[in-house]
Amino acid sequence: MNTTVKPKPINKQIKLNKYKYIMSRTDTRGFIQYANNYFTEISGYSSSELIGANHNIIRHPDMPKVIFKLMWERLKNGQQIHAVVKNLSKSGEYYWVTTKFDIKRHPFDNKIVGYLAYRQAASAKTVKIISEFYDKLLSIEEVNGMEASEKYLRGYLEEKGVTYDTFIDDIIDNNSVMKGFFKAMGRFFKNR
Ligand SMILES: Cc1cc2nc3c(=O)[nH]c(=O)nc-3n(C[C@H](O)[C@H](O)[C@H](O)COP(=O)(O)O)c2cc1C
Repeated sequence: MNTTVKPKPINKQIKLNKYKYIMSRTDTRGFIQYANNYFTEISGYSSSELIGANHNIIRHPDMPKVIFKLMWERLKNGQQIHAVVKNLSKSGEYYWVTTKFDIKRHPFDNKIVGYLAYRQAASAKTVKIISEFYDKLLSIEEVNGMEASEKYLRGYLEEKGVTYDTFIDDIIDNNSVMKGFFKAMGRFFKNR
């Protein structure tokens, strides 16, 4: 089911349990096919509201468009990607997550049949760094559009001499617990 009225964002953060994970699976267009219990609990939507809805149901207006552009380019290309995402709950509150987006392939012909997302609470340090960066991207987007923010992002990475992946993994403080979790969940989820 699709919920048409978008909640009005309020400046209140939902505190996440750092030991719990928010998971979802979509079809190839980003329509939700599976949401775990923690996703329904934190987003405030029931399972029936989420299943069949476009994943942008929880899109927060503070997220720069260019991050989703990058994410979709990578997924369509069959590559996974990490991103730090600010999400909007049904109550208008927000929560920050580090997310691994992954591909689900058909077991026989290996074609992409959908996408997966595994999320964990982002640390305060991660949020501080990324929110300043996103504010900059967003302000560029508001004035000059997404092409300009993409140019800024690419220029920023080039100047630092890093790829998007090393840049983001550094910010996420990708510890071994997280890596182990992503690996285990990848195996579990791909069989569902
Ligand atoms: C597996 C998967 C998980 C996603 N999870 C989120 C999410 O948690 N938050 C979000 O805003 N968008 C998420 N998206 C991206 C949305 O589909 C959408 O591209 C994004 O919200 C931007 O929406 P818009 O193009 O309507 O602005 C996800 C997409 C996929 C494929």
